[in-house]
Amino acid sequence: HPSNLQMEENSSLRAANCRAKGGAPGFKVAILGAAGGIGQPLAMLMKINPLVSVLHLYDVVNSPGVTADISHMDTGAVVRGFLGQPQLESALTGMDLVIIPAGVPRKPGMTRDDLFKINAGIVKTLCEGIAKCCPNAIVNLISNPVNSTVPIAAEVFKKFGTYDPKRLLGVTMLDVVRANTFVAEVLGLDPREVDVPVVGGHSGVTILPLLSQVKPPCTLTKEESEYLTNRIQNGGTEVVEAKAGAGSATLSMAYAAVKFADACLRGLRGDAGVVECAFVASQVTELPFFASKVRLGRTGAEEIYQLGPLNEYERVGLEKAKKELAGSIQKGISFIWK
Ligand code: NAI
Repeated sequence: HPSNLQMEENSSLRAANCRAKGGAPGFKVAILGAAGGIGQPLAMLMKINPLVSVLHLYDVVNSPGVTADISHMDTGAVVRGFLGQPQLESALTGMDLVIIPAGVPRKPGMTRDDLFKINAGIVKTLCEGIAKCCPNAIVNLISNPVNSTVPIAAEVFKKFGTYDPKRLLGVTMLDVVRANTFVAEVLGLDPREVDVPVVGGHSGVTILPLLSQVKPPCTLTKEESEYLTNRIQNGGTEVVEAKAGAGSATLSMAYAAVKFADACLRGLRGDAGVVECAFVASQVTELPFFASKVRLGRTGAEEIYQLGPLNEYERVGLEKAKKELAGSIQKGISFIWK
C-alpha cells in the first residue's frame, strides 16, 4: 500500500498534469515568509489567483501547517510547503515570481529603519538563494526598510552576476492603496475610481503622493493636500499604533501585495499597458533607486516613467524625500560591502 504521503504526492502530481493539459496559463510563485502576518493572507489570496499554477510556501517556522490549510482550497494552484534553510533551494527552483514578506515588523515607537539590523541579513540570505536557484525570477520585495532592502538585494545579485534591474521591484503598492482610499474619502468618490501616483520610497517623508496628478482630475485645497500627504505618509504608523504591539499592516498589505503580484504576472503573460508604482533602479532622479510608475512586461519593469509636472508643495516634498532616500540606499549598499 502506498503511504499517505505518497498518495498525496501522486494526487498533487495528477492535479498538476491535469492542469498542464488544460493549457491554462500558469506561473510558479514562491512566498518567502509565508507563515507570517502578511505571508498567510498573501498565500491565501495567491491560491485564489487564476494566473498561479504552482505556489511554494517557505518559512523558517510553521509553513507545514499553513501549507496543509491552504492546500485544501478548491482552486487551481498546486501548493507545496518548505521549512527552514535546508529547503530554501527546493522552494525556489523553477519559480517565475518570488514574493518576500520575511522579517520582523514594527512595534509602536519604531521607524522602519529600526528593522534594518535583523531584516537586512534575512533579505541577503534569501536573495543568495534566488541568485543560485531562480536567477531569472521576478522579485517582489516587501521586507522593510524597503528603501534599503532593495539596494541590498541588488548588491547580492551583482555579486553573483545575475543582477537584472528590471526584475527587482520594491513593493510600495500599499502606499498607493492607502492614497486611493484616503483621497476617495475626501472627494466622496468610490476608491476603485481613484488613481493616485505615489513616488519616492516607502518610509516617512520619502512617501510622496502626487496629489496634483490624481485621476479623475480634482482640485484639493492646501489644507486637504497637507492633511492627505501627512495621512498617506503615516498610514503605516496609524496601523502600528492601533495594533498596539501586535505588529504592523498585514491584511491591507497582503491585498496590496497580491494586487502588485497580479500586475507582474499579467505583464509576464504579455498583457499590454500594465502600469503600477514600484521602487526600482531608476534614472528618474539622480538617485540610483526611486519609486515611480513602471510598465510591467515579459521581462519585468520594462519602462520607468518620469514624474510629470509637480506643484510647488510636491517639489519641496521631493527634495526632502531624496535627502532621506540617499542615506537609506547607501546604508543598504554598505551592508553588503562592509
Ligand atoms: P511577521 O513577523 O508576522 O512575519 C514574518 C515572517 O517571516 C515570520 O513567519 C517569520 O518566521 C518569517 N521569517 C523570519 N526570518 C525568515 C527567514 N530567514 N526566511 C524566511 N522567513 C523568515 O511580520 P509581517 O507583519 O508579516 O511583516 C513582514 C515584513 O513586511 C516586515 O519587515 C514588515 O516591516 C514588512 N512590511 C512591509 C510593507 C510594505 O509596504 N512594503 C507593509 C507592511 C509590512
